[in-house]
Amino acid sequence: MKGKKKEYLATPIDHFDITKHNVVPLVDAMRNMAFTARDLARAADINDRMLRDPDCGVILCLAGSLISAGLKKVFAEAVRSRMVDAIVSTGANIVDQDFFEALGYRHYVGEERLRSGMYDAELRDLQIDRIYDTLIDEDELRVCDDTTREIADELEPRPHSSREFIRAMGEYLERKGCKTPDSIVYEAYKNDVPIFCPAFSDCSAGFGLVAHQHARGDGAKVAIDSAKDFYELTKLKIANPVTGLLMVGGGVPKNFAQDIVVAADILGHEAPMHKYAIQVTVADVRDGALSGSTLKEASSWGKVDLAYEQMVYSEATLAVPLIVGYGYHKGAWKKREARRWNKILDQVAVGS
Ligand SMILES: NC(=O)c1ccc[n+]([C@@H]2O[C@H](COP(=O)([O-])OP(=O)(O)OC[C@H]3O[C@@H](n4cnc5c(N)ncnc54)[C@H](O)[C@@H]3O)[C@@H](O)[C@H]2O)c1
Repeated sequence: MKGKKKEYLATPIDHFDITKHNVVPLVDAMRNMAFTARDLARAADINDRMLRDPDCGVILCLAGSLISAGLKKVFAEAVRSRMVDAIVSTGANIVDQDFFEALGYRHYVGEERLRSGMYDAELRDLQIDRIYDTLIDEDELRVCDDTTREIADELEPRPHSSREFIRAMGEYLERKGCKTPDSIVYEAYKNDVPIFCPAFSDCSAGFGLVAHQHARGDGAKVAIDSAKDFYELTKLKIANPVTGLLMVGGGVPKNFAQDIVVAADILGHEAPMHKYAIQVTVADVRDGALSGSTLKEASSWGKVDLAYEQMVYSEATLAVPLIVGYGYHKGAWKKREARRWNKILDQVAVGS
């Protein structure tokens, strides 16, 4: 059984390294093509323009299974290179996938035949989880769940924003040693880049928090305050009114980050709409759902400005290395100041 499991989990997923591939000539060559190639080149241009705007704070939004798919190093490098000032993500990307790898574990390439689903019962017997063509050792994932419980046990028993909890995860890696050179959680911790997961309990951390709350019974315990997340992100918009969004996938992070324009307005601040907005998604508009709704539609809600917005209808593993890599090799980040927004959030109320 052990041998069979080892056979399945033999080839780790490689993370794409934007520093090693200068994609600028490639993306430039796409500019006057058609369809997705042209859209992608325009998105790369907007991203570069956003990085050159000295007033603009950049918010990266992540949904889907991106880190397990090999995009971890792209985003860790973006944080390290001051190309991102805040992250809004689903919990799975941050905890089950990035923090998981920071604890020393890997995701694995699954053989093509597994995609059919016909072998899932066998995988279950072996305690192997499948994300389409990618495999995970469930026993290792349980260690990740348990580590989040350990972190919750160490925190002051009160409501925390997910940002505060994720920073504690970064601090844990600082103390215990980060087992990978490229962790988003750890880079964000070191660079004071806040990470928000508005649906934080819907991931590995949820299991840790349930175990923590159960063990504490009626006593004081750690809880996650999603309204505090929203308030904190809105404070950043008020403190830094010019913002741009780089959205990968749709889901909760897309709307959460867009809505801070409205929230600032509700708090009596005339914050401008997001000046730049790029979304990479496979969803389309037919169902009226959020994930595929266009950025033009978002402008009807007063959230996104129309001048610099671009949808890119592509699966993220293809488009993201090109868009972020283009920004990296154009080099605007070298002159960008690190905003260190975690520090703002640790001060007293902003603009009340
Ligand atoms: N495997 C996982 O993703 C996973 C695992 C455990 C828990 N969760 C939890 O499930 C919830 C749902 O989040 P989610 O991350 O699964 O988002 P999701 O799958 O709901 O993604 C949202 C939308 O983003 C787009 N999208 C997703 N992946 C894409 C890609 N590779 N390329 C282009 N577009 C893409 C799709 O349109 C999708 O409908 C979260 O709370 C998350 O923490 C997810």
